[in-house]
Amino acid sequence: MVTTKRLSKITIVLHWFIAFSIIGLLALGWYMTNFELYQYYQIHKSLGVILVAFVLIRVVWRIKKGWPEHASNYPKHEVVLASATHWVLIVSTVLMPIFGMLYSGGSGHGFGIFGLEIFPSNHSLEDPSVVVPLSEFWSDFGHIAHEYNGYILMAAIALHVVGAFKHHIIDKDTTLSRMLGK
Ligand code: HEM
Ligand code: HEM
Repeated sequence: MVTTKRLSKITIVLHWFIAFSIIGLLALGWYMTNFELYQYYQIHKSLGVILVAFVLIRVVWRIKKGWPEHASNYPKHEVVLASATHWVLIVSTVLMPIFGMLYSGGSGHGFGIFGLEIFPSNHSLEDPSVVVPLSEFWSDFGHIAHEYNGYILMAAIALHVVGAFKHHIIDKDTTLSRMLGK
């Protein structure tokens, strides 16, 4: 269905807040892991856990309101590609923090929000400076899934942004401008 309606303020605010938070966390995650900057791990985990609340509000909002109707008449393959990308984006933003928490919880490092412990770290009784994994299976699964889901997210975001600019520059429709609140 095609519509000339504006998008609601809630859709717009949630979209941009989550979009920039996800891009920021992808960049921080990649940077801190590749350069072994362990001092950033707690910040990354805290921001990721806080983001869960907003991601869940967005999922509830989408379930209540459905997906935005298309701004223009697109060929079938474009509609399918755009919908598939939106599904991948929304599902992977839910899965990403879950995998991160599985990894941090399972590895015994725990996680929380800026010092407020949610899942405690697990230390050896003989030597408290040593962290003992709670579950090698969930730690390894969470670790691999967190990394590969990150690649899926990056690819989906790239496709999504190319699509948004294609609508704006080539189709000259209101897809991007209405997401900017115009
Ligand atoms: C939507 C939110 C999140 C995004 C987009 C995100 C993204 C990333 C990315 C791209 C990496 C680098 C992966 C790699 O190269 O191995 C990473 C690493 C990491 N993330 Fe997240 N993350 C999120 C939430 C979380 C949460 C909630 C936790 C835990 C509570 C977490 C814990 C970690 C840890 C411990 C690492 C380091 C992995 C390593 O040392 O190999 N992340 N994250
Ligand atoms: C920063 C670059 C981005 C631009 C320019 C952009 C642009 C847009 C536009 C124009 C729409 C409306 C599409 C339509 O009407 O059919 C949209 C929707 C959407 N975008 Fe983005 N987006 C960006 C980043 C992201 C990121 C990083 C995510 C997810 C992590 C994301 C997830 C979504 C989802 C799930 C929708 C469907 C509608 C909704 O739930 O709000 N976007 N985006």
